[in-house]
Amino acid sequence: MTKPSILVSRAIFPEIISKLEQHFRVEHNQDDATWTKQQLAEKLKGKVGAFTTGGERIDAETLAGNASLRICANMAVGYNNFDLDAMTSAGVLGTNAPDVLTETTADFGFALLMATARRVTESEHYLRAGKWNKWSYDMFAGSDVHGSTLGILGMGRIGQGIARRGAHGFGMNVIYHNRSRLSPELEAACKASYVSKEELLKTADHLVLVLPYTPASHHTIGAAELALMKPTANLINLARGGIVDDGALAAALRDKQIAAAGLDVFEGEPKVHPDLLTVPNVVLTPHIASATVPTRKAMANLAVGNLIGFLIHGKPLTPLNPEVLAKK
Ligand code: DGY
Repeated sequence: MTKPSILVSRAIFPEIISKLEQHFRVEHNQDDATWTKQQLAEKLKGKVGAFTTGGERIDAETLAGNASLRICANMAVGYNNFDLDAMTSAGVLGTNAPDVLTETTADFGFALLMATARRVTESEHYLRAGKWNKWSYDMFAGSDVHGSTLGILGMGRIGQGIARRGAHGFGMNVIYHNRSRLSPELEAACKASYVSKEELLKTADHLVLVLPYTPASHHTIGAAELALMKPTANLINLARGGIVDDGALAAALRDKQIAAAGLDVFEGEPKVHPDLLTVPNVVLTPHIASATVPTRKAMANLAVGNLIGFLIHGKPLTPLNPEVLAKK
C-alpha cells in the first residue's frame, strides 16, 4: 500500500523526519528554503497532511487547489498563521502544540523580565565595547523584581506559569487581566488577583503580555495604553507581534514614558521596527521563548503525533477545529 504524502514546510530535527517516514511519503525542506505563499501552495499539491511552524500562512488562498489536504499540524501553541474558518470550510483539520512548552516559555518570560529590569544586555554591550573603566553608584541601575507588582495580560497556561514564578519565587504581588477570570483554586495557586485592564496598566511594575493574537487583540498596547503605565514600568511581550504597536512603543521608550521593554516577538517579524533598534532600553530576542532542545523536540513530536493520530488512526491529539472531524 502506498503511504500517504505529507509536506514538512521547514527544517526540523532529522529524527522527526525519520519518524514521519515510517508512516508517510515525506517531502521535506531540510535546506530551510524560504517559500513564498504560492510556492507553499504548490508544494502542498497532492499532500494529505502538512507539518507547519507558526510562520506559514494557511488560508483560503493556500488551500485553493489543494482538495486532498486533510490536516495541518502546527509545531507551535499559537496558531494565528491558520485561518481556521477557511480551514474548516475546506474540511482541513488544524492542530497546535499546547502544554509541552508552557514551563519553558514561562522560564523565558522570567529571563526576559529579569534582563529588562536589570539592564543585562545594555550593560553587556557597554562592557564589550570597552567602555567600562570605573564603577559608579548609578551605573545601569534598574528596577527591582522581588516584591514588585507583576501584571499579566492573558492568563492562560503560560501566564499562570509566569504568575507562579513571580509569586512563589520572587514574592511579587501578582495581578492579571484576562477575557475570563480564573477559578478561585487557580487564582490561589498563582496567588493572583483579577483587576481591570486599566488598573493592570496603571499598577504593574512589570507588565507581561501572554495573550493570543487575533484581529481583536491587534495593537492591544498602543500609545494610549502606554500612556497609562508608570514611567518606571517595564513591558514584556512574549505573545505575538501585532499585539503591541511597536512604533508607539519605540516612541514611549525613547521619551522615557516607560522605563524599558523586553520583546521576543515583533509585528512583521523577522523584520523589526527600525526605531526599536535605536533605543537602548529594550531587550530584543528573536522569538526564542520555547527554544530549548527538549521542548522543541516535544513540540515537534506533538505535531507528529497529530499527523499520525489523525491520518493513520483517525484520532488527532490536539485538534483546533474538531467540527471537521464530525463532518467526516
Ligand atoms: C508558539 O508555540 O506559539 C511559540 O511562539 C513558537 O512559535
